[in-house]
Amino acid sequence: MAVTMKGKHLIDLHRWTTEEIEEVLKTAETLKLEKKRGQEHPILKGKTLAMIFQKPSTRTRVSFEVGMYQLGGYALYLGPNDLQLRRGETIADTARVISRYCDGIMARVFSHNDILDLAQNATVPVINGLSDLFHPTQVLADLLTIMEKKGHLKGIKLAFVGDGNNMANSLMFGGAKVGMHVVVASPKEYFPREDIVSVAKADAKLAGGSIAVVEDPVEAVRDADVIYTDVWASMGQEAEAERRRKAFKSYQVNSNLVKLAKPDAIIMHCLPAHRGEEITSEVIDSPQSVVFDEAENRLHAHKAILSLLL
Ligand code: CP
Ligand code: NVA
Repeated sequence: MAVTMKGKHLIDLHRWTTEEIEEVLKTAETLKLEKKRGQEHPILKGKTLAMIFQKPSTRTRVSFEVGMYQLGGYALYLGPNDLQLRRGETIADTARVISRYCDGIMARVFSHNDILDLAQNATVPVINGLSDLFHPTQVLADLLTIMEKKGHLKGIKLAFVGDGNNMANSLMFGGAKVGMHVVVASPKEYFPREDIVSVAKADAKLAGGSIAVVEDPVEAVRDADVIYTDVWASMGQEAEAERRRKAFKSYQVNSNLVKLAKPDAIIMHCLPAHRGEEITSEVIDSPQSVVFDEAENRLHAHKAILSLLL
């Protein structure tokens, strides 16, 4: 049965069904193939996406903007100083107004509540382009990448090593929906939030996968098909960087750790990477690393999201 997703928000992947996630992956594969063949696909001709950025971005900004262009539409970049939000206009009023001009809103915010506020008040789809809690567009591109490299998602073991942050949360949510086994290894103080872990566990059970949170990175990567890491200090946590560097010292993804995973394990990172901290250059530049294919897939996954939602 065809999955209709027009008008849906993308707030986090728990709110989407497995079928909706699979529809995005399938659409992304088609759009990627068409693009590689030089075939144009102006599916969103005449449509405009507003892109609100409270934080910097390379991949999300460029891939959404280029994606809208390739789909025949237009994308509007609205940085931290561009909107009246800075002068106290509410998120709700901003959402209502932008909905009168644009066909969709993608937003990168500090507080996840801002995404919820936007979605509650917009009359067009709202796409979470990263909040302090979730980064769902990244994980859709990640699932596409794992699918391409491993041929399937169900039963894949993904070890996330590092901070129990927005990426860990989103990998648990997305992985759970497609029946993966996701193990997060963090120092206890930086474990992902318990309420998020338990929601992911329930979803994983339904799909035949599992979620675990452990302290030992060695235990996490044992027999892993995918090793994933992210920065130790996320955007907005710069003041904690030094303390975090100490806390995460034994959580570096280096060649000794990689050796403990399956011999054909792939290495993933949402980027930007802090080489020499959460991952060594040796590992990120190794043949097992798929980080640039992963970055490319942001484009194809975002085009799929846009063409299905807008
Ligand atoms: N991975 C990711 O979202 O990168 P940017 O911060 O560059 O958008
Ligand atoms: N956890 C990182 C991801 C960046 C794409 C951050 O929020 O800064």
